[in-house]
Amino acid sequence: MLRGLPRNQNIFFNECLVSLHRGSLLKFNAIILNIHYFSCMILVTGGTGLVGAHLLYRLTSDGETIRATYRTEKKLQNTKNVFSCYTKNFDKLFNKIEWVKVDILDVPSLDTALKDVTYVYHCAAFVSFEPNKHQLIRRINIEGTANLVNLCITNKITKLCHVSSIATLGNPIHNEAIDEETIWNPEDDNSIYGITKYGAEMEVWRGTQEGLNAVIVNPGVIIGGGIWRYGSGSIFKKIHKGQRYYTSGSVGVVPIKDVIAIMIALLKSDITNQRYILIAENWTYKTFMQAIAKSLKVKSPYKIAKPQLLNIMWRLDWLKHKLTGKRRVLTKHLAHTLSTNKNYDNSKICNALNYEFSPVIDCISEVSTQYLYQFPPDL
Ligand SMILES: NC(=O)c1ccc[n+]([C@@H]2O[C@H](COP(=O)([O-])OP(=O)(O)OC[C@H]3O[C@@H](n4cnc5c(N)ncnc54)[C@H](OP(=O)(O)O)[C@@H]3O)[C@@H](O)[C@H]2O)c1
Repeated sequence: MLRGLPRNQNIFFNECLVSLHRGSLLKFNAIILNIHYFSCMILVTGGTGLVGAHLLYRLTSDGETIRATYRTEKKLQNTKNVFSCYTKNFDKLFNKIEWVKVDILDVPSLDTALKDVTYVYHCAAFVSFEPNKHQLIRRINIEGTANLVNLCITNKITKLCHVSSIATLGNPIHNEAIDEETIWNPEDDNSIYGITKYGAEMEVWRGTQEGLNAVIVNPGVIIGGGIWRYGSGSIFKKIHKGQRYYTSGSVGVVPIKDVIAIMIALLKSDITNQRYILIAENWTYKTFMQAIAKSLKVKSPYKIAKPQLLNIMWRLDWLKHKLTGKRRVLTKHLAHTLSTNKNYDNSKICNALNYEFSPVIDCISEVSTQYLYQFPPDL
């Protein structure tokens, strides 16, 4: 045990000695990469988002040196809420983060954020299906990623982990399972979110042609606690409030802890220029929503919202937006996704890292407990 070093670094030094003793060159290489990773500055973009905040919790717990981007002070509360899902005394870990105010569309501030950084996790994005926000979604997701990729190259970043989405994968012709080779079809009626996430991936691949080392992860719906206003957190909130309807489609889901563990393992590994689907299990919306309801101890959604009903609903949602200016909640593409059945194949990542995903039902139970802790039923 080396005094003064975080526990994880000590474990790796010990492993290093064991591996030297055994003469295992491969393992030794992996350990050298790990030691390099630990001694470096890591930048996380989108530190106030679901993925960024959970990643920051794990990285600060592991004793890493972290810089993270935020846009407004108000949103730092998101990160604190996420940290509070893990521990009451999160201030110590939260204060270890060097926060930098950066908009990824602002090249000079992004360049400053990258100074002395070795590894980058790119979690910042505009996650939205709203057609009226088309231009902004394009700019943040494609142009923002292009800016980051360019600056990673000029700042000689060792490796970038880019968070993409299963929305960038194509549709299989005969309903077979979707894998990393299921090619995107630009002729399909793709959502604005999918188009821009695909464009962002293209920027990362372009960067790899210019010498950048990168890995891309393509998660499905990520289940994690702490942010309840949108994303998977809002599903817990809606069901807790008494959601009556479920939809007829299926959903590829993944616990946040698996997403984070895989991102870290990929960045530390010598794997480069690959992309990986991150789906733990494929569920129907019905079983998914009913499992959440059971876990929250509330009535399960019991009525099916058939595609015909969703088609009426997204049109009404459009009309409401036009008349009142309120944000779109149900778009045409979202309605289609909710009633479509797809199956995702996760074997590429499982084989690459010898990884086993954790059971989704356990994650639903953990997130429900976090939700009920943050919003006790008698409040
Ligand atoms: N959550 C999921 O289920 C899911 C599934 C598949 C893929 N993904 C992908 O995972 C990544 C992270 O998603 P998430 O769920 O964490 O999203 P999120 O909660 O909406 O967080 C997005 C983050 O990006 C930041 N951001 C947005 N525009 C920015 C800009 N112009 N400059 C700098 N930062 C900006 C946001 O800052 P503010 O807080 O200031 O808005 C926020 O910190 C995204 O690439 C998303 O496409 C997410």
